[in-house]
Amino acid sequence: MTTLESTRSRLAAAGQDHLLAFHDRLAPPQQDALLAQINALDLEAVPALVRAYVTAKPTPAIPRDVQPAAYYPFNPDAPARPYNAAQYRAAGDALLRAGKVGAFVVAGGQGSRLGYEGPKGCYPAGAVSRKPLFQIFAEQLLAARTKFGRVVPWYIMTSPLNHDATTDFFRAHDFFGLGRENLMFFPQGVMPSFDLASGRILLAEPGVVATNPDGHGGAVRALHSSGALDDMQRRGVEHLSYIQVDNPLVRITDPVFLGLHAAAPDSSAEMSSKMIPKAYPGEKLGVFCRVDGKTEVIEYSDLPAALAEERLPDGTLRFVCGSIAIHVLAVEFIRRLATDPRFALPYHRAEKKVPCIDPATGARVEPAAPNGVKLERFIFDALAMCRSSVVYETDRVEEFAPIKNASGLDSPESSARIQTARAARWLGSRGVRVPRNPAGDPDCTLEISPLTALEPADLGPDALPRVIERGASLAV
Ligand code: UD1
Repeated sequence: MTTLESTRSRLAAAGQDHLLAFHDRLAPPQQDALLAQINALDLEAVPALVRAYVTAKPTPAIPRDVQPAAYYPFNPDAPARPYNAAQYRAAGDALLRAGKVGAFVVAGGQGSRLGYEGPKGCYPAGAVSRKPLFQIFAEQLLAARTKFGRVVPWYIMTSPLNHDATTDFFRAHDFFGLGRENLMFFPQGVMPSFDLASGRILLAEPGVVATNPDGHGGAVRALHSSGALDDMQRRGVEHLSYIQVDNPLVRITDPVFLGLHAAAPDSSAEMSSKMIPKAYPGEKLGVFCRVDGKTEVIEYSDLPAALAEERLPDGTLRFVCGSIAIHVLAVEFIRRLATDPRFALPYHRAEKKVPCIDPATGARVEPAAPNGVKLERFIFDALAMCRSSVVYETDRVEEFAPIKNASGLDSPESSARIQTARAARWLGSRGVRVPRNPAGDPDCTLEISPLTALEPADLGPDALPRVIERGASLAV
């Protein structure tokens, strides 16, 4: 049992004894809660973290020999790198039919840019139906179950801030018909938030340590400590399809991607990624690069403008592979990341305004400028830990309609437009006439439910509307 004294001496050793400054003034339940919160922190690791990331300001070193990453083009017949897509589709199909694929969504983010109260997965994203993001993903998994004859279990990472709201939402919707036993919810971990100037951990309240979710890279630890990896092992799941919560067009069970991941000659089948060609140099997408023979993502904020703007003789961007945060990870690879310290993911530092309590006076501080440092891990840093890793191109209209901002780029409105463009393309490929405006864009709003079709070939004759009126809103 940990006593107040043992906690005090661990804190002193870590240079963080101010966290108990108000302990004696708290009511006993709050005292217990504070001690529990402190004892859950990895205090022994704190001094090194503070030295490396808080009081020091590590600048991302861009290696001199950074090259663009190679990728499998969306069109398998493209002369740059032709490959046998049918063979990889068969390999992916086989994994799905054998029940070796699980789905994983990172849904711990706070959605603050969108200004939506509540878990982002509950956001009504369907262009016509206004279905929540979680429902769109659930329908994909139901459709995959029918198509491949096996359950795709779904692992959902929440954060301590939205865990209960997320599970309540699923319960209220009867788990969207997936069966409670095929879903697993677990919160990601948190990191203490640090004072920018001193490296001391901030207090949010006299009896509460200030913390922040530990980033989507926290998924590694959370998948392990929640027992999710063991659950996958019990079920025979070998590969995990990783998605972010913000993109209603993401294809969770894409056989070609799964097949390339598992069977391409240059893949270690540890971790693979999808990319879209960046539309312009400043587009806010991480970029897949090749560094020392390994595939890596360089965040948009870290890629020097000179590299971002470089063009090939044909005018295309040289660093063209934009990360849309869609991956497949092998379950055994995640276990290695979680258990072998040599594979620990690095932290990234962000300076933020963190409301807090002054430990000397007890006064509340509402900072006007960043006063705190939050540390997060990013899942894409695991790419550098792979023996080798492949990148597969997808098409923006087919698979990338994220909802991140309240308006403008990557907003509900732009997402509805892209959802419509994809549906128009799929319906058009089956001979349906879609009304278009003079600019050539669909003059209607369209949405295809995953239950109707996971890809154009699934669109049966009954699903095809005979006419689409100009200005119509149509969900099929
Ligand atoms: C992210 C990527 C960027 C990529 C873009 C594509 C990062 C740092 N950047 O940017 O390279 O080009 O998506 O859309 O990821 N999340 C958690 N827990 C956390 C933090 C985030 O689960 O602690 C989840 C969010 O719920 C969301 C996803 O991670 O599903 C992305 O988070 P966000 O911070 O919105 O990243 P972006 O800036 O959109």
